Amino acid sequence: MQRSPLYTILFATAVCIVCAVVVSSSAVSLKERQDFNSALEKQRNVLIAAGLLGDKEKVSPEEIESRFASIRGVVIDLETGEEAADIDPLTFDQKKRATDPATSRVAPANAALVKRLPDYVLVYLVEGETGAIEMIILPIEGYGLWSTLYGFLALDADLETVRGITFYQHGETAGLGGEVDNPRWKAKWDGRKAFGEDGLPTIEVIKGPAGPPAEDPYRVDGLSGATLTARGVTNLVQFWLGENGFGPLLDKLGTREERRAA
Ligand SMILES: Cc1cc2nc3c(=O)[nH]c(=O)nc-3n(C[C@H](O)[C@H](O)[C@H](O)COP(=O)(O)O)c2cc1C
Repeated sequence: MQRSPLYTILFATAVCIVCAVVVSSSAVSLKERQDFNSALEKQRNVLIAAGLLGDKEKVSPEEIESRFASIRGVVIDLETGEEAADIDPLTFDQKKRATDPATSRVAPANAALVKRLPDYVLVYLVEGETGAIEMIILPIEGYGLWSTLYGFLALDADLETVRGITFYQHGETAGLGGEVDNPRWKAKWDGRKAFGEDGLPTIEVIKGPAGPPAEDPYRVDGLSGATLTARGVTNLVQFWLGENGFGPLLDKLGTREERRAA
């Protein structure tokens, strides 16, 4: 049976409208679950960086929440290192803050290609029973070869010994730059020193293998075939540990000499 062109157009329009309604309503109804899952994934990565969860360990969302209970999220003024007591860490969205001109500023030129700096950042503390800091987990981000890598770096109570690093989002090539996710490579960071004798961020990913942490404290094994991503990791770690990143916060928490003596 021959249909008129008008029938075909109306039919196609009706199909489009129905599909648009289905897609948009499922996007809206799944938004809450997506937000929950992305918050959970962040918590999982904070735990991995802190060494409180194995990289390949399969645990339930309840278990992640229960392990996360020993960690306190604290919102910090990036420029002063002061705690912002009036901002709720649970609803804090650092990525959004860093892109909104009202809550961010242009970053000074830097090798990590960080474009804007948020006014506030969310860091995580593992505290002992007396409230003393046992570990601090810092959000880090910066450009690799193809993409911005987002992750966490955990420092020990001395604020200089690395306890762990992890990336929860990036677009580097699987098997090359994507090896930043390899648990064996990430384990190479544990026990290395982030700052040199001059107090400046010194830790770097080199080309080729590094020695053990006790003999070669400032260098981490390279990623073979992925020197550009590895250089990006060096740049972003050094940027966030520096004066435009968490320098003011780390200084506020005590000089490294004081914390070594503590
Ligand atoms: C398709 C393709 C994808 C690549 N992806 C990456 C990558 O994700 N990270 C990276 O550092 N290099 C990547 N490279 C390789 C770089 O171009 C460059 O050769 C490499 O970083 C050099 O590292 P090497 O000195 O260890 O060989 C890729 C190359 C190709 C052809």
